[in-house]
Amino acid sequence: MTELETELLATLEQAKAELALVNDDAALEVVRVKYLSRKGQLPALMSKLGTVPQEDKPAVGKTLNAVKRDLQAAFDETAARVKASNEAHAALDVTLPGRTVPTGHKHPISLVMDSAVAIFRRMGFIVADGPDIDTVWDNFDALNAPADHPSRSPEDNFYFDLEHCDYMNPNTLLLRSQTSDVQIRTMLAYKPPVRIICPGRCYRRDTPDATHGMSFHQIEGLYVDTHVSLADLKGCLGSFAREMFGERTKIRLRPHHFPFTEPSVEADASCIICGGEGCRVCKGSGWIEIAGAGMVNPAVLKNVNYDPEKVCGFAFGIGIERLAMIRYAINDLRLLYDNDVRFLHQF
Ligand code: DAH
Repeated sequence: MTELETELLATLEQAKAELALVNDDAALEVVRVKYLSRKGQLPALMSKLGTVPQEDKPAVGKTLNAVKRDLQAAFDETAARVKASNEAHAALDVTLPGRTVPTGHKHPISLVMDSAVAIFRRMGFIVADGPDIDTVWDNFDALNAPADHPSRSPEDNFYFDLEHCDYMNPNTLLLRSQTSDVQIRTMLAYKPPVRIICPGRCYRRDTPDATHGMSFHQIEGLYVDTHVSLADLKGCLGSFAREMFGERTKIRLRPHHFPFTEPSVEADASCIICGGEGCRVCKGSGWIEIAGAGMVNPAVLKNVNYDPEKVCGFAFGIGIERLAMIRYAINDLRLLYDNDVRFLHQF
């Protein structure tokens, strides 16, 4: 290859590299002047053809034409690209409002769950977890539910494989009917003291209506240590209610019965809508039930190999849907599960 041919090919490569970086008319013109104009590099190289020995002329002439053609093609391509981009810019009206990307947000149940978890964490509870499918033993037996307790009924629970298993068999599986099963799992896994909450989903064979669903959420709490009292429970639920519903919220405990606590209570908060005067939300009573609770039954402590002579504790279970209904003044629980974005947008 002659020196001139090498030079021609190098010039073509260089020009192409420069064209690749061109983005507007001004830059395009700079490249045109440098290579293609009358005083540009290509005409300069062409004029050197006269100095090439006669026998090399046909080959060099061929290369020269090919380089000229390629360079022009690369230039035309770039010019077309710049033109298209100019047109696109011209069509862009920067004064138009931007396109909004619809971003989702948390579901009201998650929002309430998150605030409840945050409140209890500030009090020193840590989050424990358990599976939605659990054994009859964790869900009922270890929690001291007597054999004939109505909460075990297959009509109220989702048991697995009842054709082959008996729902009284401790190993039979079910969709847990309460998050209290996590109390058992936690105490079996850790020595006292324990102070946990368990936010989670539970399942019952309820026909959905304004206040019931087949699946719902609870937040379970358990605190076991050497000197835990009912007053601690009341203090804990009281702080929770004040943080959740406002400074002036009061709490009251009513006697109740749960197999896993002794004594057992139901905890009410003063109605956030009427402040205790009585209204439709609290059905005129001034109080709204927010939790089941009590002192952990010594029988439960024995079931998980804790010594009831040495340790004691309190437990509570709060219904999250209920909290959400109170907080957002929602009168039908099914609204939370219909997945109607017009409703969900509001939170
Ligand atoms: N597990 C009960 C229920 O689903 C709620 C409950 C009551 C939980 C008392 C507790 C408790 O931990 O101590 O109705």
